Amino acid sequence: MDRIEPDGERKQVTVLFADVKGSMDLAEEQDPEQWREIMQGFFSILADEVRRFEGTVDKFTGDGIMAVFGAPVAHEDHARRACLAALRMLDDIAEYAAELRRRHGLNFSARIGINSGEVVAGAIGAGADGGYTAVGHTVGLAQRMEALAEPGKAYLTEASAELARGYLELEDLGEFEIKGASRPVRVFELAGVGAARSRLDLSRERGFSRFVGRAEEMAVLDAALESARSGEGTAVGIVAEPGTGKSRLCHEFAERARTAGVEVFEAQAQAHGSEIPFMPVLQMLRAYFGIADEDAERIVREKIAGRALLLDPELADELPLLFEFLGVPDPDRPLPKLSAEAHQRALQDVVCRLAHAPGRREPTVVMIEDLHWIDPGSEALLGGLLEDLSGSSLLAVVNFRPEYEPAWKPPPGYRSIDLQPLGPDDTRALLRDLAGDDASLHDLAPALHERSGGNPFFIEEIVRSLVEAGSLEGSRGAYRLARPIDESGVPASVQTVLAARIDRLGPEAKRLIGVASVAGKEISERALVMIAGLDSPGGAEVPLRELIEAGFLYELELYPERVLAFRHPLTREVAYGSQLAEQRRAGHAATARALVELNPERHEELAALIASHMEQGGEPLEAARWAAHAAYWAGHSRPREAIGLWRTVTRLADELGDGEEPESMAVASRLQQLDFAWRLGMPREEQRRLEREAEEIAERIGDTRSLALLQMLCAGRPGLEQRTAEWIEGVERGVRLADESGDRHLRVALRAAGSYAYLCAGRLDRFEAALDEVEELAGGERSLGAGIVIGSPLAWASMGRGLARRDRGEIDEARRLLERAVRIAEEDGDPETASWSRSNLAVMLRLRDEPEAAVAAARHNCERTERLGDVFSRSLALASLGATLLGTGEFAAALEANEKAERIYRDAMGGGGEMEVWRAGLRAEALTGLGRAEEAVAVAEEAIATAGERELLWSLSLASLALARAQAAGGDRPGALATLDETEAASRRTGAMLVVAAVEEERRALAGEPAG
Ligand SMILES: Nc1ncnc2c1ncn2[C@@H]1O[C@H](COP(=O)(O)OP(=O)(O)OP(=O)(O)O)[C@@H](O)[C@H]1O
Ligand SMILES: [Mg+2]
Repeated sequence: MDRIEPDGERKQVTVLFADVKGSMDLAEEQDPEQWREIMQGFFSILADEVRRFEGTVDKFTGDGIMAVFGAPVAHEDHARRACLAALRMLDDIAEYAAELRRRHGLNFSARIGINSGEVVAGAIGAGADGGYTAVGHTVGLAQRMEALAEPGKAYLTEASAELARGYLELEDLGEFEIKGASRPVRVFELAGVGAARSRLDLSRERGFSRFVGRAEEMAVLDAALESARSGEGTAVGIVAEPGTGKSRLCHEFAERARTAGVEVFEAQAQAHGSEIPFMPVLQMLRAYFGIADEDAERIVREKIAGRALLLDPELADELPLLFEFLGVPDPDRPLPKLSAEAHQRALQDVVCRLAHAPGRREPTVVMIEDLHWIDPGSEALLGGLLEDLSGSSLLAVVNFRPEYEPAWKPPPGYRSIDLQPLGPDDTRALLRDLAGDDASLHDLAPALHERSGGNPFFIEEIVRSLVEAGSLEGSRGAYRLARPIDESGVPASVQTVLAARIDRLGPEAKRLIGVASVAGKEISERALVMIAGLDSPGGAEVPLRELIEAGFLYELELYPERVLAFRHPLTREVAYGSQLAEQRRAGHAATARALVELNPERHEELAALIASHMEQGGEPLEAARWAAHAAYWAGHSRPREAIGLWRTVTRLADELGDGEEPESMAVASRLQQLDFAWRLGMPREEQRRLEREAEEIAERIGDTRSLALLQMLCAGRPGLEQRTAEWIEGVERGVRLADESGDRHLRVALRAAGSYAYLCAGRLDRFEAALDEVEELAGGERSLGAGIVIGSPLAWASMGRGLARRDRGEIDEARRLLERAVRIAEEDGDPETASWSRSNLAVMLRLRDEPEAAVAAARHNCERTERLGDVFSRSLALASLGATLLGTGEFAAALEANEKAERIYRDAMGGGGEMEVWRAGLRAEALTGLGRAEEAVAVAEEAIATAGERELLWSLSLASLALARAQAAGGDRPGALATLDETEAASRRTGAMLVVAAVEEERRALAGEPAG
C-alpha cells in the first residue's frame, strides 16, 4: 500500500507584506549600485524581525518581502507575532530612513499589510526550485492591505485583528472595498502594544467567567503557603495542556494570598520571548521593586536601592549589578566588566539574597507562568532560586504545559498538580455562567463537554463562536438557543492552539495523527498500521506512544485488540482540516480498504461506515454497493436508517451515470425508497418524482421486474386517497408484469403485498385466493420473495388467512393461523409482519372473551413495535390497543390510543390511509362507551361516507355496526334498527359473518329493551 505522504498542508497563518513606498521613483534618483545597497539594508531589517518572531521569509518581492507566521511550524500566537514584528520593523525602518535622509537626502518609507487565515503551505515547483511557500486568498488579501497602508503604517484585516486584539493596540479605520474580496473588509491600523500579555489578561478584560471547581488544587496551594509561612519555603508546579486553567488557578490563588496580606510577584515567559533573555526575571524584579513604565531612570534607581537596602544593607555592593540589569545603569557607579558566565552567577546570587534577605519575614509568593517558553538564562536563575528555598518563607508557584521538561531540581516538599479538564458538572456550571439557564440550553452542556473535552478555554471560545454565528441569542449569561447547533467548525483561537501542538510532534507522530483523523474518532492499531502503510505491525509503537503521552490519543481498548481514540473531537477536526483534499481522499480510500480487509466477519455492521469512507475516498461505485449492503442489512428493522442509506445509493448511482450497474442501482434504490414511503411517510411530490424517475430509467433499460414492482408501489400510496378499484387495477397490472418477467420471487412477493388491496375492498374470497397462490408458488420455500415489500410472504399469507377466518367467524382456526404467522415472521426475521400479526391476535382475543389478556397482548406489542420505528406498524399497534381497551370498558384510554394512532399516521403520511374507516369506527365505539353518543354518531357517519367513496368495504361493516350502537345508545331505536339492516347486508356481501352475529346480538338487545 502506498504511503500517504503529505506535500502540503492547510494551515492557519498570518501573512505579512512589507515594501518600500514608491520604490520606482526612489530608485530612479539613485545610482543602481547604491540603490542595491539601500535595499539590502532594508531587507535585512525586515528579515531580522521576521526571524526574531520565528516567522518565515516566504519570498523577496523586489521591493519588499512576504513573510509567514505560523508555517512551517505553527505558532498559536501567529497574528500577535506578525504584529510585533511589524511594529519593530516600522521602528527600525524609521531609524533607517532618517539615516538615509541624512546621507543621501532620500525620502524612504515603507508600509506593511497583515492578514490571517487559511493557506496551503508546502513545496511548490519542481526539484531544487521547489521552495516552501504559502498560497491562497489569505495571501492576496495581505498584499492588498499593504497596498492600502499609508507610508510608515501597518494595516491589518479584521481576521488578524480578531486574533491580536488586546495584545496589540488597534485603530479601526472602517470598511473598505477591496479588489478581489466579495465583501467590504474592515481594516485596522496597528497603533502599538496593548495591555494584555496573556490569554488570561484578555479574559479578564472581557470579564472573567465564574471560577468553578478546583477545590482540591486550591487546598494543595494553601498548604504550600502555610509551609512557607512556617519557614519551610517550597514550590508547586501546575501542569496541563493549553487552556485547562493553569493561569486562572494561579490568578485565583494569588488573589486569595493577597487578600490574606501575602505579597505576590508574578512573571511569565512569552511565546515569542524565548529569544529575548531574562524577560520573566526582569518582569519579576520590576514588580518586586515596584517599578512603573513611566518612571524616570533616577526614580527607578531610588526604588531599587531603597527596597534592597531596607531588606539587607549588605546588598549595597550589588546595586550596580541590579541597576545595569534593570536597564538603568548609574553613570557614577558603572558595573565592572564580567564574563557572561560570571554575570549570570552574580545575578543568581543577588536574586537568592533578595529572597533570603533578613528583612523579609513575611511569606511571599513568586509566581512564574508558562515555563515551556522560558529562556535558558531565566531558567537557570529559577533553578538557583528553587535550590535555595529551605529555611525561607518563599513559595514559588510555576506552571507549564506537559511538553516542558524542567531543567531544575524539585525542592523539598515540591508538589506537582496535574490539572485535569473540567468534569461534566463543572462544565455545566461554567456554561450556566456564560450563557445562562434557559431551557433551550439544556442539551448544550453535554454536547459542549464532549466537544471541548472539558477544557475551559475551548468552552469559552465555542460559546463565543456560537454567539457570533447567531446560534445563541441574547446577552452574556442570558442566552437562548436560536438555531440548532451543527458542527460549526473550530473557533480560530482554538484552532491555532491545537495546530501548534500538533506541529510540535515528531514527523511520524504527526503523520499518524493525520491518518487517524481521517479514519474517525477511533481506530484500531492494526488498521492504523495498515492505512499508514507501515511495514511492520510494531512500526506505530513509538509515534503512538508519543501521541498518547502528549494527550492526543488514548487507549480505548486493549483487548482483543488495541484501539486508540481521540481525546478531543476538536483535535481530530484540526488534524483532519490541516490535510490537503487529495491526501484526505487517499486516507479515506485506504481506511475503507482496511475496514473491509481487517473485519471479514463484521462487514454488515460496518457497511455504512465503509460506504462513507469509500465515498469520501473518491470511489462512488464501491460506496454505492456498500451503502446498498448496509441498507439491506438495516432493512425493515431500522427503516429510518435504511431509507437514508437508499437515498445515498440513489445519489451515488446518479453521479455515476450510465452503465449497467449504476442504472440498475438507480432504479432499485428509488423503488426501495418508495417501499419505505408507506411505512414512514414521504412528501407527495417526492414520491411522484421518485416514481417518475424510476419508471423512466426502468423503461430505458428494459427492466420489467422493476416496472412490475413500481406498479405495485404506486398503486397503494400512503394516505391512499384513490378508490380500492384503482388500487386493485394497479396490483393486477403489477402481478401480470411479474408473471411475464418469470421471476418467482417477484411473483410471490407481489401477490402477497397486492392481496391487501382485496382485503381492504372487502373481497375476502379474492383475498384468500391470492394468498393460496402465494403459498402454492412458494411451495414452502420461505425465502421466496422475502424482503421485496414484505419481509416474509408466507408469514403474511398465514396472517391474511387468519384474518379472513376471523371475519368468517372461525375463531379457533383464525387463532391458529395468526399464531403461526407470528412464529414464521419471527423465525424469518420479519419484525413487521410479526407486529401486525400480534396486533390482529390481540384484537381477536377480545372476541374470544379474553379482554384482559387482549389488552396485555396489545400493550406488549406496542412496546415491541415502538422499537421498530416505522409509522405504519406503530399506528396499527396503537389502534389495536385502542380496540382491545373497548373490551375492558376503558373507553377513555381506548379513545386516547386511537387518537394517537390517527395522529401519528396523518402527521407522517398526510392522510388517514386505508385503515382510517376502521379507526373511526373504533373511535365511535369509544365515544359511545363514554356516553358521548351524539359525537359517536357523527364520527361513524363520516367514516361510512368515506368508506363508500373509497370502497373500503372491509371496514365499512364495522363502522356501520358502530353507528348502530351509537344510535341505540342515543335513544334512536328506529335509526339503529335500520342501520343494523344495512350492516347485515354489507357484511353478508363481504362474508364478514362475525359482524352478522354481532348485528343479531344488537337486535336482541334492542328488542329486550323498552322503547325510547
Ligand atoms: N476553573 C475555571 N473556572 C472558570 N473558568 C476557567 C477555569 N479555569 C480556566 N478558566 C477560563 O478558561 C480560560 C483558559 O484558562 P487559562 O488561561 O488559565 O488556561 P491555561 O491552562 O493557563 O492555558 P495556557 O497554557 O494556554 O496558558 C480562561 O479564560 C479562564 O478564565
Ligand atoms: Mg496560562
